[in-house]
This record gives sequence, structure tokens and C-alpha cells, in this order.
Amino acid sequence: MWKNVPAMELYEGLISRRSIRRYTGKKIDEEKIEAILKAGMYAPSARNRRPWHFIVIDDRKVMSRIMEMHPYASMLSEASHAIVVCGDQKLENGPGYYKLDCSAASQNILLAAHSLGLGAVWLGVEPRQERIEGISKLMGLPPHIIPLSIISLGIPVKIPVEIPDRYEPEKIRRNRW
Ligand SMILES: Cc1cc2nc3c(=O)[nH]c(=O)nc-3n(C[C@H](O)[C@H](O)[C@H](O)COP(=O)(O)O)c2cc1C
Repeated sequence: MWKNVPAMELYEGLISRRSIRRYTGKKIDEEKIEAILKAGMYAPSARNRRPWHFIVIDDRKVMSRIMEMHPYASMLSEASHAIVVCGDQKLENGPGYYKLDCSAASQNILLAAHSLGLGAVWLGVEPRQERIEGISKLMGLPPHIIPLSIISLGIPVKIPVEIPDRYEPEKIRRNRW
């Protein structure tokens, strides 16, 4: 799978990842989507419960419905795919753990997309109740499946090269507060 795709060094990749909201409109190969989903499934999770499900969206009508209900999702009009990352309350380690586990999966998805030269951005669903309800209804989710994030994916118009300075040493303490 995707053997010929060069992978960047991991540390360089996680520092240079940025949210990408402009896409060419071309389609991402399905083998890359599969590689991205696989990366999501390799995220850490409490007691390795892996309480996640991924809904891959490539239907423009469904993208439009999401844009109608989500105030910050206009980039989906150019996106190739979107992935709704959902938590499973029957699989999680205890109440609320799915939020942590699915956040880790969402971040892995963003980093995997970046490593493949693709553009991605996390669209927040949790913790906003109206978005959780809207997406649950639209996706036909059973009651124990809760949408946590939507990852918008596309072939980037451009990849930003400038890396912002986010190193904040004043946020680091040693041994106690
Ligand atoms: C929980 C969460 C919710 C977010 N929701 C949105 C969103 O709804 N729409 C959007 O365009 N970006 C969203 N973002 C992306 C952030 O705006 C972005 O990560 C942040 O500005 C830092 O920029 P960077 O990702 O380029 O480093 C979200 C990110 C997180 C982690």
C-alpha cells in the first residue's frame, strides 16, 4: 500500500503540519484514504479499546448538508473527502474516554494526510451539542455512537512553508507548578 509515496520525517511532519482549507477540487486516491484511516486506527487509546468508527464522505450532497449545519465548514465545497470520526460508548474504557481516544485518532489522521502531501483540517463537533445532534441525525448514528470531529481532506492549492513560532517556554514548569 502507498509504497511509492515518500514519507517525511515524523518530527518535521508534526511541526510543519498546518490546517489546509483550500483544495484543488481533484479527487484523492482511495489507497491514500485507506492509508489515512489506517493511521487513525493506530492512535493510542485507553486500554487499547479503539472505541472509534470512521464515516468516509465523498458525496457532494452530504458535504453540502454538513456545510448547512456547521458554521465553519465552508472548505468542504472544495474537499475531496471528509471523515467523520465517531466515538463508541459501548467500546470506550469508561464514560468520556472516547473523546480522548478519538482526538488522538483525529490527530493521527491529520498527520497522515500531511505526510502524504494532502491538505486537512479538523472541524469541531464535540463538545457542541447542536453539532453532535445535527451530525448524528444526518449520518443516522445509533445512540451510543457520538461524532467527535470531521476531518476535511483535499489536494492542497498550496502547502504553507513558513512555520509559525509556537514554542512558549513560559508554559513549561519543572517538578511542580
Ligand atoms: C477541536 C478543534 C476544532 C476545530 N474546529 C475547526 C473548525 O470548525 N473549522 C476550521 O476551519 N478549523 C477548525 N479547527 C482548526 C484550528 O482552527 C487550527 O488547528 C488552529 O487554528 C491552529 O492552526 P494549525 O492547525 O494550522 O496549526 C479546529 C481544531 C480543533 C483542534
